[in-house]
Amino acid sequence: MPYKRITLTHFLLQEQRRLGGSGSFTALMTDIVFACKMISHEVNRGALAGNLGVAGSENVQGEEQKKLDVLANDIFLHMNALGGSYAGMASEEMEDVHAVHGAADGKYLLLFDPLDGSSNIDVNISVGSIFSILKLPEGADAGSKDAFLQPGVKQVAAGYALYGSSTMLVLTTGNGVNGFTLDNNVGMFLLTHPDMTISADTKEFAINASRERFWEPPVKRYIDECRQGKEGPRAKDFNMRWVASMVAEVHRILCRGGVFLYPADSENIKKGGKLRLMYEANPMAFIIEQAGGAATTGRGRMMEVQPTGLHQRVPVILGSKNEVERLGAYHAEYD
Ligand code: AHG
Ligand code: MN
Ligand code: MN
Ligand code: MN
Repeated sequence: MPYKRITLTHFLLQEQRRLGGSGSFTALMTDIVFACKMISHEVNRGALAGNLGVAGSENVQGEEQKKLDVLANDIFLHMNALGGSYAGMASEEMEDVHAVHGAADGKYLLLFDPLDGSSNIDVNISVGSIFSILKLPEGADAGSKDAFLQPGVKQVAAGYALYGSSTMLVLTTGNGVNGFTLDNNVGMFLLTHPDMTISADTKEFAINASRERFWEPPVKRYIDECRQGKEGPRAKDFNMRWVASMVAEVHRILCRGGVFLYPADSENIKKGGKLRLMYEANPMAFIIEQAGGAATTGRGRMMEVQPTGLHQRVPVILGSKNEVERLGAYHAEYD
């Protein structure tokens, strides 16, 4: 790789210049990048820092919180080093929104899943952080949930950090998708994956197959056809992956294609599905669409869902465009 290195800071300043920005967005991203570096450090220390195991508390989702769920949330909550150009925050780990007092110009709302895939943290499998950035609507109160309940198409940026064999940060500001790798020697994210795009076709699907008995017929049909391989109607063999960290699945799909399904099923439909719209499905949908893929609920474009609750759950199908569209056609035939 030529020695010319572009850091995430350079990239953000270039974006600011391109957009003629005031620097508020750059300040917000600087805080997010700092938070992700700190979380990467804490994740990497793991057992050495006593960071593994449960926190002994439950979150609004009814999940048993891991110590790193709570620590990562705290890091995001207190990262406001630059006098905050964001007016409010919402998190998987906090029931209510958090208004950022004294925000300099408070243009933005930050929503985040501070630690995604936390069931993997104690067994040293990749986890991540997911973030979504919305504009504070004119005259809205950043301390009220209503200001946050905007459809995914309103996002100004979305991204994730992946704490894997290397720590990466993947970002879209609506102008494509770029991936940066943390160089711990200089403490900077360096551009390593410019202009990430997803192939329209794939031979790899990701689903938690233990839930087959709950699946709706269109999902069952799709997965059965994939499993029939060359002998079946798809006339090609498929592979399956399931990491149980959405960030890791989405990153794999960005790198080599694939389709990810966490559908509504007869067991989770009561809650609307498993994954959360505001800080999992929408940010990932923005990234996937910006990379040329598709993201739906199975019955409609993810980013057009009008949110009704901060922790609302939705069915998620995303990835290689032709596969997502096939699943949409199967749902339409069935309904
Ligand atoms: P989180 O750890 O933030 O609660 O999210 C976990 C999510 C997502 O990352 C992953 O794709 C999914 O839960 C895994 O669900 P199962 O454990 O049911 O496979
Ligand atoms: Mn959780
Ligand atoms: Mn998550
Ligand atoms: Mn989480």
